[in-house]
Amino acid sequence: MNIVLIGFMGSGKSSVGRVLSDKLSFEFIEMDVLVLQKSGRGNINEIFEKDGEPAFRKLEQEVAEGLQNKNNAVISTGGGVVENSVIMDYLGKNGRIIFLSVPFAEIKKRLKDLNDRPLFKNKYKAEELYISRESLYDKYADIKVPTDGKSIDAVANEIITAIKN
Ligand code: S3P
Repeated sequence: MNIVLIGFMGSGKSSVGRVLSDKLSFEFIEMDVLVLQKSGRGNINEIFEKDGEPAFRKLEQEVAEGLQNKNNAVISTGGGVVENSVIMDYLGKNGRIIFLSVPFAEIKKRLKDLNDRPLFKNKYKAEELYISRESLYDKYADIKVPTDGKSIDAVANEIITAIKN
């Protein structure tokens, strides 16, 4: 079984995923890193600028396809995977899907000084995206974990307890 973390940009998928994989002695896999490797570009902004978002989404799907037979891995996804049902099928095959939910106001604070997310450059558009995706995260989640005000460690422990039940 794998644990698949979904949620909006800045929801803590990578930080929680790393801690969780340590606690469970699972492999930690970050989809964005694999997409970046496949792209041959230097960073995610560059993929969006030079190749376009559809090219990024295609690579993302290829990466997900390659992960469907993984086992004992914590997979941190990109915030957009829920917009592609094929990706969600691949990830759900052998995975429990955990939605890390955070209010948009908190996400805005967390990403304030970061410039590495092409879809967060315009905060108004990002908020629209957040609103339009909320129901998708809910739809795919086996378990929803509200994380606001909790430490990374506490969120990881909550996930461990939830998957045992
Ligand atoms: C995206 C989220 C990013 C990255 C890309 C697109 C999105 O990942 O995959 O910039 O569509 O929400 P994080 O959720 O890790 O920031």
